[in-house]
Amino acid sequence: MCGQRAGGGGVVPILFLLFCFLIQQVTGHLDDCTCDVETIDAFNNYKLFPRLNELLESDYFRYYKVNLKKPCPFWNDNSHCGIRDCAVKPCPSDEVPDGIRSGSYKYSEEANNLAEECEEAKRLGAVDGSLSKETQEAVLRWTRHDDSSDSFCEADDIYSPDAEYVDLLLNPERYTGYKGPDAWKIWNSIYEENCFKPQNVKRPLASGRGDAHFFSGVCVEKRAFYKLVSGLHASINIHLSARYLLQDTWSEKKWGPNITEFQQRFDEVITRGEGPRRLKNLYFLYLIELRALSKVLPFFERPAFQLYTGNKSYDAEMKNLLLEILHLAKSFPLHFDENSFFAGNKKEAAKLKEEFRLHFKNISKIMDCVGCFKCRLWGKLQTQGLGTALKILFSESLIEKIPESGPSYGFQLTRQEIVALFNAFGRISTSVRELENFRNILQNMR
Ligand SMILES: *[C@@H]1O[C@H](CO)[C@@H](O)[C@H](O)[C@H]1NC(C)=O
Ligand SMILES: *[C@@H]1O[C@H](CO)[C@@H](O)[C@H](O)[C@H]1NC(C)=O
Ligand SMILES: *[C@@H]1O[C@H](CO)[C@@H](O)[C@H](O)[C@H]1NC(C)=O
Repeated sequence: MCGQRAGGGGVVPILFLLFCFLIQQVTGHLDDCTCDVETIDAFNNYKLFPRLNELLESDYFRYYKVNLKKPCPFWNDNSHCGIRDCAVKPCPSDEVPDGIRSGSYKYSEEANNLAEECEEAKRLGAVDGSLSKETQEAVLRWTRHDDSSDSFCEADDIYSPDAEYVDLLLNPERYTGYKGPDAWKIWNSIYEENCFKPQNVKRPLASGRGDAHFFSGVCVEKRAFYKLVSGLHASINIHLSARYLLQDTWSEKKWGPNITEFQQRFDEVITRGEGPRRLKNLYFLYLIELRALSKVLPFFERPAFQLYTGNKSYDAEMKNLLLEILHLAKSFPLHFDENSFFAGNKKEAAKLKEEFRLHFKNISKIMDCVGCFKCRLWGKLQTQGLGTALKILFSESLIEKIPESGPSYGFQLTRQEIVALFNAFGRISTSVRELENFRNILQNMR
């Protein structure tokens, strides 16, 4: 299929062939034999994931600055006090009668439902913004330490007074109760308006169909973009299924895997073939981000680069861990063409980069329309992380030229980009890990 399309395409031949190569590698193996998925699983679950997890718990990586208060630029938000509004703006408690809030006395069915929904959304969707005083001070020092640089995707206006640091460890990505039409609207606009949409593509949230001609009419680098977004979507859905709110009582909240939820999104029969494709896209995304990590090693290896938090010995320790992870990423046998598919022909690569950049900008703006704080936070972070990975892949030749000492003028990453890159990859890595868990549960059910 790739060969045919390359012949008739008239699109950037070099990029085309290299992408074809890449995609055939990935899907081919993943299609034909589970052994390659197993290779990735074994590498990720037992080698990379544990180390990455440790890194992401460090101070440098757990605080991310984000502006969650930007208005949605694309449509008016006119929903009622459903989960959505409450999550964006926690219900003012004086608007809800005391008796209702305490749950001991109910005025009316309707008021009660409203209050419960608000409480629910506040708990599920709210972002825990508590930072210790020391952290706030440290964070101020980091900011001064940051390099400024042009970023690949729309940078959040982190200098806006509305931008705040959040502690990612206190705000795990999990089931939030944010679904239904509002969530579909977000994903549909991402797919339909920003994904160089393939002709006759099925809406991702409707049930699928066979797709022998799924991608006909799309040139291949755009297909790669589509696969990345689909992989991101799959990853997020795996988290929501893996950390589902299973039990919610006064005394206990329990989060854990919900097999039904997982099957509804990924089971081959229930999704009519879409599920396995989504998972394949997840692995594709994994490999792309892994490759970006392996390529960015020279930037982090320079002695001048520090994971600056103010504690020298701790910073050095964490930098060692980071380099260990990058070397690990480099050691993974990816049989890609080393001539770099993103940086092949200079002029065409620049054009492609610009196109990707525009689409990414839009996707990061769409994240401002996500009506639940926590989903918005992780959506923004993961978009920026993927954007950073693409920036790295598009800058390969610049990175290779970085001198070992002195400033690296050609290529820079800000702290925000670094935090997003590793945390975003952490999410994908966690998804791959969680998939194994789901597979085991399903096997035991048979
Ligand atoms: C960006 O997304 C919005 C909302 O989905 C859409 O209306 C607009 O056409 C998109 N623009 C580009 C350049 O993709
Ligand atoms: C699991 O998810 C389904 C929706 O997919 C829901 O109906 C069900 O109640 C959930 N199970 C538990 C134990 O929460
Ligand atoms: C620096 O970090 C180390 C842990 O690596 C810790 O033991 C030490 O107390 C820290 N020093 C300061 C000044 O916070």
